[in-house]
Amino acid sequence: MKTLVANWKMELGVRESVALARGVLRGLRGVKEVPNVYVAPSHTALTDVAKVLGRSRVMLAAQDMHREAQGAYTGFVSAKQLKEVGAQAVILGHSERRAYAGETDADIGCKLALACEHHLDPIICVGEPSAVREAGEAAGYVSEQLQTILAAADMPKRQRLMIAYEPLWAIGTGVTPTIHDVREVHLLIRSRLKDAGMERARVLYGGSVNAQNIYEFINDDDVDGVLVGGASVRLNSLRELINVVSEIG
Ligand code: 13P
Repeated sequence: MKTLVANWKMELGVRESVALARGVLRGLRGVKEVPNVYVAPSHTALTDVAKVLGRSRVMLAAQDMHREAQGAYTGFVSAKQLKEVGAQAVILGHSERRAYAGETDADIGCKLALACEHHLDPIICVGEPSAVREAGEAAGYVSEQLQTILAAADMPKRQRLMIAYEPLWAIGTGVTPTIHDVREVHLLIRSRLKDAGMERARVLYGGSVNAQNIYEFINDDDVDGVLVGGASVRLNSLRELINVVSEIG
């Protein structure tokens, strides 16, 4: 079964997030083969969206968490606190966190260890800037990012883990890599995962995925799912994405 993660970024308030989550559940009524769908609202909406999702098959993800377990960290949110409000997964190392909050692979490694400890499914983001892609070094760059992150955490072999390959130049731009380029990076990601004994991890693609292009990515054997931003914050478009993922199974 393929995976779709809807990252709502800082786009929606609590009421909008609740309405969107309700809409997703309505759209899935009667669907037998439900794909793995995660919705990731802002922290402020997690509790309310958790109530809407209840025991449904749609899972709740947070967009980030702090690298320390607890302490004097004003304004941050811990893994334990996320678990407490019903999150099942957490996005770690999104490029927007790296760019605007200065997160490093070492920080992300610490977060990964904590997420595992608190039984949150980590969704780790990696991806290269355009200059690296143009230099033909994308796969190596991503592989190194992942190696540093994975080295920081001693994960149980049965840990559910997702790696999202999100090239920076494809996020929110309408520009996407070719499926050939995605495959090349995904293969190297899988080989790093194998080195770490985590070959069961899912490898997702993210960056300008929409209802028109999702099929090409999701239908590929080397792509276990997608991480979607902009096209996931409106109900019609999110439902279309989920439908395509459901049809592929
Ligand atoms: P877009 O789908 O808006 O390009 O965003 C991708 C992303 O950053 C998902 O985490």
